[in-house]
Amino acid sequence: MKKIMAIALTLALTLTAAAACAEATETLTMATNASFPPYEYVEGDQVVGIDPEIAAAVCEKMGYNLEIVDTEFDSLISGVASGKYDFVMAGMTVTDERKQMVSFSDTYATGVQVIIVKEDSPITSVDDLLADGANYTVGTQNATTGYIYAMSDIEDAGKGTVAAFPNGNEAVMALVNGKIDCVIIDNEPAKAYVEANEGLKILDSTYVVEDYAACFAKDNTELVEKFNAALQELTADGTIPAIIEKYIPAE
Ligand code: ARG
Repeated sequence: MKKIMAIALTLALTLTAAAACAEATETLTMATNASFPPYEYVEGDQVVGIDPEIAAAVCEKMGYNLEIVDTEFDSLISGVASGKYDFVMAGMTVTDERKQMVSFSDTYATGVQVIIVKEDSPITSVDDLLADGANYTVGTQNATTGYIYAMSDIEDAGKGTVAAFPNGNEAVMALVNGKIDCVIIDNEPAKAYVEANEGLKILDSTYVVEDYAACFAKDNTELVEKFNAALQELTADGTIPAIIEKYIPAE
Protein backbone atom coordinates (compact mmCIF):
# COMPACT_ATOMS: atom_id res chain seq x y z
CA MET A 1 0.00 0.00 0.00
CA LYS A 2 2.81 2.36 0.99
CA LYS A 3 4.62 1.57 -2.23
CA ILE A 4 1.58 2.35 -4.35
CA MET A 5 1.21 5.67 -2.55
CA ALA A 6 4.86 6.47 -3.18
CA ILE A 7 4.53 5.67 -6.88
CA ALA A 8 1.36 7.73 -7.14
CA LEU A 9 3.07 10.64 -5.43
CA THR A 10 6.11 10.46 -7.70
CA LEU A 11 3.86 10.33 -10.71
CA ALA A 12 1.88 13.32 -9.50
CA LEU A 13 5.05 15.35 -8.91
CA THR A 14 6.39 14.41 -12.35
CA LEU A 15 3.16 15.43 -14.00
CA THR A 16 3.15 18.77 -12.16
CA ALA A 17 6.72 19.44 -13.23
CA ALA A 18 5.91 18.48 -16.83
CA ALA A 19 2.88 20.76 -16.85
CA ALA A 20 4.96 23.63 -15.49
CA CYS A 21 7.58 23.12 -18.24
CA ALA A 22 5.03 22.81 -21.02
CA GLU A 23 3.36 26.07 -20.04
CA ALA A 24 6.54 28.13 -19.57
CA THR A 25 4.29 31.14 -19.14
CA GLU A 26 6.00 34.26 -17.93
CA THR A 27 5.22 35.17 -14.34
CA LEU A 28 4.44 38.68 -13.17
CA THR A 29 5.25 39.57 -9.58
CA MET A 30 2.74 41.74 -7.80
CA ALA A 31 3.72 43.33 -4.50
CA THR A 32 1.21 44.30 -1.84
CA ASN A 33 0.89 44.88 1.89
CA ALA A 34 -1.67 42.39 3.11
CA SER A 35 -3.02 44.12 6.21
CA PHE A 36 -5.72 46.02 4.40
CA PRO A 37 -8.99 44.06 4.35
CA PRO A 38 -10.99 43.57 2.16
CA TYR A 39 -8.47 44.73 -0.49
CA GLU A 40 -5.71 42.39 0.75
CA TYR A 41 -5.29 40.27 3.84
CA VAL A 42 -3.82 36.95 4.85
CA GLU A 43 -6.04 33.88 5.20
CA GLY A 44 -4.14 30.75 6.20
CA ASP A 45 -0.99 31.06 4.11
CA GLN A 46 -2.69 32.87 1.23
CA VAL A 47 -2.96 36.56 0.38
CA VAL A 48 -6.62 37.07 -0.52
CA GLY A 49 -8.95 39.97 -1.23
CA ILE A 50 -10.09 42.29 -3.99
CA ASP A 51 -6.62 43.18 -5.28
CA PRO A 52 -5.26 39.60 -5.54
CA GLU A 53 -8.47 38.52 -7.30
CA ILE A 54 -8.44 41.40 -9.78
CA ALA A 55 -4.71 40.80 -10.35
CA ALA A 56 -5.33 37.10 -11.02
CA ALA A 57 -8.12 37.87 -13.49
CA VAL A 58 -6.08 40.54 -15.29
CA CYS A 59 -2.96 38.34 -15.47
CA GLU A 60 -4.98 35.42 -16.82
CA LYS A 61 -6.47 37.70 -19.46
CA MET A 62 -2.99 38.98 -20.40
CA GLY A 63 -1.59 35.42 -20.48
CA TYR A 64 0.76 35.64 -17.49
CA ASN A 65 1.12 33.67 -14.29
CA LEU A 66 0.82 35.70 -11.10
CA GLU A 67 3.04 35.62 -8.04
CA ILE A 68 2.19 37.74 -4.99
CA VAL A 69 4.74 39.20 -2.59
CA ASP A 70 3.55 40.54 0.77
CA THR A 71 5.85 43.28 2.05
CA GLU A 72 5.99 46.61 3.90
CA PHE A 73 3.72 49.30 2.48
CA ASP A 74 6.48 51.93 2.52
CA SER A 75 8.70 49.80 0.26
CA LEU A 76 6.11 49.20 -2.49
CA ILE A 77 6.61 52.33 -4.60
CA SER A 78 10.42 52.19 -4.54
CA GLY A 79 10.34 48.42 -5.19
CA VAL A 80 8.19 48.68 -8.30
CA ALA A 81 10.05 51.79 -9.51
CA SER A 82 13.36 49.89 -9.33
CA GLY A 83 11.99 46.83 -11.17
CA LYS A 84 11.99 44.52 -8.14
CA TYR A 85 8.26 43.91 -8.75
CA ASP A 86 6.29 44.09 -12.01
CA PHE A 87 3.38 45.88 -10.41
CA VAL A 88 1.78 46.87 -7.14
CA MET A 89 -1.86 46.53 -6.09
CA ALA A 90 -2.41 47.63 -2.52
CA GLY A 91 -5.45 49.88 -2.39
CA MET A 92 -2.85 52.34 -3.65
CA THR A 93 -4.13 55.89 -4.03
CA VAL A 94 -3.19 57.83 -7.16
CA THR A 95 -1.33 60.99 -6.12
CA ASP A 96 0.76 63.55 -8.03
CA GLU A 97 3.80 62.84 -5.82
CA ARG A 98 3.63 59.11 -6.57
CA LYS A 99 3.17 59.85 -10.28
CA GLN A 100 6.67 61.34 -10.22
CA MET A 101 8.01 57.86 -9.39
CA VAL A 102 5.61 55.33 -10.96
CA SER A 103 2.96 54.94 -13.69
CA PHE A 104 -0.60 54.20 -12.63
CA SER A 105 -3.20 52.07 -14.40
CA ASP A 106 -6.76 53.25 -14.82
CA THR A 107 -8.51 53.37 -11.47
CA TYR A 108 -10.67 50.43 -10.39
CA ALA A 109 -12.02 51.61 -7.02
CA THR A 110 -12.62 54.63 -4.82
CA GLY A 111 -11.33 55.03 -1.30
CA VAL A 112 -12.32 57.48 1.41
CA GLN A 113 -10.05 58.49 4.27
CA VAL A 114 -12.14 58.24 7.44
CA ILE A 115 -11.52 58.59 11.15
CA ILE A 116 -11.90 55.77 13.69
CA VAL A 117 -12.41 56.77 17.32
CA LYS A 118 -13.46 55.09 20.55
CA GLU A 119 -17.23 55.18 21.03
CA ASP A 120 -16.95 57.77 23.84
CA SER A 121 -14.39 59.99 22.06
CA PRO A 122 -14.59 63.80 22.32
CA ILE A 123 -13.69 63.85 18.60
CA THR A 124 -16.99 63.93 16.69
CA SER A 125 -15.92 65.25 13.28
CA VAL A 126 -12.94 66.03 11.07
CA ASP A 127 -13.34 69.67 12.12
CA ASP A 128 -12.75 68.76 15.80
CA LEU A 129 -9.48 67.16 14.80
CA LEU A 130 -8.32 70.13 12.72
CA ALA A 131 -9.59 72.86 15.07
CA ASP A 132 -7.17 75.45 16.43
CA GLY A 133 -6.04 74.32 19.86
CA ALA A 134 -6.90 70.68 19.17
CA ASN A 135 -4.06 68.54 20.38
CA TYR A 136 -4.81 64.94 19.55
CA THR A 137 -2.49 62.06 18.74
CA VAL A 138 -3.51 60.63 15.39
CA GLY A 139 -2.52 57.13 14.30
CA THR A 140 -1.86 56.24 10.66
CA GLN A 141 -0.14 53.56 8.61
CA ASN A 142 3.33 54.73 7.67
CA ALA A 143 3.73 56.23 4.16
CA THR A 144 0.00 56.09 3.36
CA THR A 145 -1.97 59.07 2.14
CA GLY A 146 -3.63 59.17 5.58
CA TYR A 147 -0.17 59.70 7.07
CA ILE A 148 0.78 62.32 4.49
CA TYR A 149 -2.42 64.37 4.96
CA ALA A 150 -2.28 64.11 8.75
CA MET A 151 1.34 65.25 8.79
CA SER A 152 0.56 68.39 6.82
CA ASP A 153 -2.89 69.21 8.24
CA ILE A 154 -2.19 68.31 11.87
CA GLU A 155 1.44 67.88 12.91
CA ASP A 156 3.04 70.48 10.63
CA ALA A 157 0.13 72.83 11.37
CA GLY A 158 0.90 72.55 15.10
CA LYS A 159 -2.50 71.05 15.88
CA GLY A 160 -1.44 67.68 17.23
CA THR A 161 0.88 64.71 16.78
CA VAL A 162 0.93 61.98 14.15
CA ALA A 163 1.99 58.45 15.08
CA ALA A 164 3.00 56.16 12.19
CA PHE A 165 2.50 52.39 12.51
CA PRO A 166 3.79 49.61 10.23
CA ASN A 167 0.20 48.62 9.42
CA GLY A 168 -3.39 49.62 10.04
CA ASN A 169 -4.00 46.84 12.53
CA GLU A 170 -1.25 48.06 14.85
CA ALA A 171 -2.63 51.60 14.67
CA VAL A 172 -6.07 50.29 15.64
CA MET A 173 -4.57 48.25 18.51
CA ALA A 174 -2.92 51.45 19.83
CA LEU A 175 -6.34 53.15 19.72
CA VAL A 176 -7.98 50.25 21.55
CA ASN A 177 -5.23 50.45 24.21
CA GLY A 178 -5.70 54.20 24.66
CA LYS A 179 -2.26 55.15 23.35
CA ILE A 180 -3.66 57.39 20.59
CA ASP A 181 -6.91 59.35 20.09
CA CYS A 182 -7.96 58.25 16.62
CA VAL A 183 -6.86 56.46 13.44
CA ILE A 184 -7.05 57.92 9.94
CA ILE A 185 -7.39 55.13 7.40
CA ASP A 186 -9.30 54.10 4.26
CA ASN A 187 -13.02 53.38 4.77
CA GLU A 188 -13.18 49.69 3.85
CA PRO A 189 -10.35 48.53 6.14
CA ALA A 190 -11.80 50.90 8.75
CA LYS A 191 -15.11 49.00 8.62
CA ALA A 192 -13.28 45.68 8.95
CA TYR A 193 -11.26 46.89 11.95
CA VAL A 194 -14.31 48.37 13.70
CA GLU A 195 -16.18 45.12 13.18
CA ALA A 196 -13.29 43.13 14.63
CA ASN A 197 -12.86 45.28 17.76
CA GLU A 198 -15.33 46.28 20.48
CA GLY A 199 -15.96 49.91 21.36
CA LEU A 200 -14.87 51.64 18.16
CA LYS A 201 -16.79 53.68 15.60
CA ILE A 202 -16.18 55.51 12.32
CA LEU A 203 -17.01 59.22 12.24
CA ASP A 204 -19.65 60.24 9.70
CA SER A 205 -17.62 63.10 8.27
CA THR A 206 -15.19 62.02 5.55
CA TYR A 207 -11.68 63.41 5.33
CA VAL A 208 -10.47 62.84 1.74
CA VAL A 209 -11.88 60.91 -1.28
CA GLU A 210 -9.34 59.15 -3.52
CA ASP A 211 -8.90 56.73 -6.43
CA TYR A 212 -7.13 53.37 -6.29
CA ALA A 213 -5.01 52.03 -9.14
CA ALA A 214 -2.25 49.52 -9.84
CA CYS A 215 1.22 50.99 -10.33
CA PHE A 216 4.20 50.07 -12.47
CA ALA A 217 7.75 51.21 -13.19
CA LYS A 218 7.53 54.56 -14.91
CA ASP A 219 8.89 53.37 -18.28
CA ASN A 220 6.83 50.15 -18.41
CA THR A 221 4.16 51.66 -20.68
CA GLU A 222 3.68 48.39 -22.56
CA LEU A 223 2.53 46.54 -19.46
CA VAL A 224 0.37 49.48 -18.28
CA GLU A 225 -1.42 49.47 -21.65
CA LYS A 226 -1.98 45.70 -21.62
CA PHE A 227 -3.16 45.91 -18.02
CA ASN A 228 -5.63 48.71 -18.82
CA ALA A 229 -7.00 46.81 -21.83
CA ALA A 230 -7.58 43.71 -19.68
CA LEU A 231 -9.06 45.81 -16.88
CA GLN A 232 -11.49 47.40 -19.33
CA GLU A 233 -12.63 44.06 -20.77
CA LEU A 234 -13.05 42.54 -17.32
CA THR A 235 -15.03 45.55 -16.18
CA ALA A 236 -17.29 45.41 -19.24
CA ASP A 237 -17.96 41.68 -18.88
CA GLY A 238 -18.84 42.05 -15.19
CA THR A 239 -15.86 40.14 -13.75
CA ILE A 240 -14.42 43.04 -11.77
CA PRO A 241 -17.74 44.38 -10.48
CA ALA A 242 -18.48 40.81 -9.27
CA ILE A 243 -15.13 40.60 -7.42
CA ILE A 244 -15.78 43.92 -5.69
CA GLU A 245 -19.38 42.98 -4.87
CA LYS A 246 -18.16 39.70 -3.34
CA TYR A 247 -16.05 41.57 -0.78
CA ILE A 248 -18.09 44.79 -0.48
CA PRO A 249 -21.75 43.81 -0.90
CA ALA A 250 -23.86 46.80 -1.96
CA GLU A 251 -26.09 47.87 0.91
N1 ARG B 1 -4.91 54.27 0.07
C1 ARG B 1 -3.84 54.55 0.98
C2 ARG B 1 -2.59 54.92 0.22
O1 ARG B 1 -2.49 54.67 -0.93
C3 ARG B 1 -3.55 53.40 1.91
C4 ARG B 1 -3.21 52.12 1.25
C5 ARG B 1 -2.70 51.07 2.22
N2 ARG B 1 -2.65 49.81 1.56
C6 ARG B 1 -2.23 48.65 2.11
N3 ARG B 1 -2.29 47.58 1.38
N4 ARG B 1 -1.74 48.61 3.31
O2 ARG B 1 -1.67 55.47 0.75
